[in-house]
Amino acid sequence: MLKVWTDGAESGLVDRFHERGTSFVYLPATAVERAVSVTMPVRLPSWDIPYGLAPIFEMNLPEGVLRERLRLAFAKATGTFDEFDLLSVVGRSQLGRIRYTGEREQLHEEVPFQSVDEILQRRRDGDLFRYLIDKFSSFSGISGVQPKILVRDEQASIALSTAKARLSQSYRGATHIVKLWDANEYLQLAANEHFCLNVAGKCGLDVPRYQLAEDGMALVIDRFDLRTDGTYRGLEDFCVLNARRTEEKYRGSYESSIMKRLQEFANSLHINQDMEKLFTLIALNCAIRNGDAHLKNFAVVYDDVLGEARLAPAYDLVTTSVYLPQDSMALTLNGTTRWPDAKELRRLGETRMGGSPAKIAQILEHIADAMSEVREQIRPYIKEHPEFKEIGERMIDEWEKGAAHSLAAIH
Ligand SMILES: Nc1ncnc2c1ncn2[C@@H]1O[C@H](COP(=O)(O)OP(=O)(O)O)[C@@H](O)[C@H]1O
Ligand SMILES: [Mg+2]
Repeated sequence: MLKVWTDGAESGLVDRFHERGTSFVYLPATAVERAVSVTMPVRLPSWDIPYGLAPIFEMNLPEGVLRERLRLAFAKATGTFDEFDLLSVVGRSQLGRIRYTGEREQLHEEVPFQSVDEILQRRRDGDLFRYLIDKFSSFSGISGVQPKILVRDEQASIALSTAKARLSQSYRGATHIVKLWDANEYLQLAANEHFCLNVAGKCGLDVPRYQLAEDGMALVIDRFDLRTDGTYRGLEDFCVLNARRTEEKYRGSYESSIMKRLQEFANSLHINQDMEKLFTLIALNCAIRNGDAHLKNFAVVYDDVLGEARLAPAYDLVTTSVYLPQDSMALTLNGTTRWPDAKELRRLGETRMGGSPAKIAQILEHIADAMSEVREQIRPYIKEHPEFKEIGERMIDEWEKGAAHSLAAIH
């Protein structure tokens, strides 16, 4: 059995249930604002899931390499290793405001220090990649297939501990996400993502601070769910909002599973502004040919689970078509995953965002301008980093194609 904590307070218990399922129950007298998700209000009856974990508990479970590593490291005792076991390993250090401990344990989020500068400048000898994965994987309650870890940067931590508004004396949580990549599969992924995020920023989207390692081997990103007082905001991805399991992240449409869903759950005075950002993000994904914009790559953040939820800053933007030339969209638009043309995107904006034709034309133009500006940053980077040449040149080609087709841009 695991104890579930929200905002640093006990809220419920989760345990295995029947053959392959789990059951979650709120502790008696749990306050309504301790709800674990906007989709699971505090109530007396338990939440029983016939297979696996409830989406909000499954949300941050590592996939891919990290999961396999943890399985190898922790499966020995029991011989088996399911999602529940995985949650018990990474549960103490998670993205968002939920933590998990043993039934009788207190909260003890104590992520070891790791200097971000050391990662960016490659100051450690030997295999930094392996060292980081070995040391931090069991503190890394973060989803995704690519290898990545959560670390606590000393300097960022000091800044937090001296912040006036600091509430949590015991604050020892992670401050940064370090994204690494598998050289055999996705060459130069960190630099690819770096330039895609540059475009997002220039399009007026919120983007957390991100830093590319000098040798291009890692992208270090500030956590956008971390508050200045060292506590964490609520974070829920669109798998959770759609009550889908992680393995269903490619199921759904941009119209309903993303745009309509945000409208349903936002509960916000800023909804028009956020819908415009969401539309911009979807159009941008098409133009840069990101075929991985699935349900887990959109999220909402909030301070109060009963209050307003805002669209999360943009993250995980990659020109995937440089690796998979035939790639198409992760979700459907008009019933198909084919890249939309500008006319189809304009229709999406008009029907789902409720924007005027002039406003939508302006958004698409803005994206095209941002892409041509960033294209001019890619060229000098290639000069300094010849290892990026192949991917960088393909990115430029893909962006030209993408902007011409999906934004009807002429440059
Ligand atoms: N800057 C951030 N702050 C907080 N959470 C984030 C941030 N960036 C990503 N996430 C969360 O971490 C998850 C994994 O990160 P992501 O960049 O999508 O990795 P991957 O490329 O492996 O899918 C995301 O689905 C999102 O929930
Ligand atoms: Mg992702």
